[in-house]
Amino acid sequence: MSQPIRITLDGDEIEVAPDLPLTSILMERAPGWRESPRLQARRGMFCGMGLCFECVVEVDGQWTRACMERSRSGMEIRTADQRRSAGGGHV
Ligand code: FES
Repeated sequence: MSQPIRITLDGDEIEVAPDLPLTSILMERAPGWRESPRLQARRGMFCGMGLCFECVVEVDGQWTRACMERSRSGMEIRTADQRRSAGGGHV
């Protein structure tokens, strides 16, 4: 098994396996990552192949689709949940 790497998720430094799909990290570590604005219920990933843009997050200051990214050392991820709690409004 490969050595864990450190990434930052919504301001918290965490250890994860390298080259892991971001969607699996977010579903486990950022439960408010995707939420239905109407039902206020958690949602999972939608297409999982880069087509719907439902999984957009900020990685190293750039918007990207989480389902198309994999974990790499030092990356900084910000979710819409974190932006909402910081007063950034709905995304
Ligand atoms: S889940 Fe559809 S683009 Fe990522």
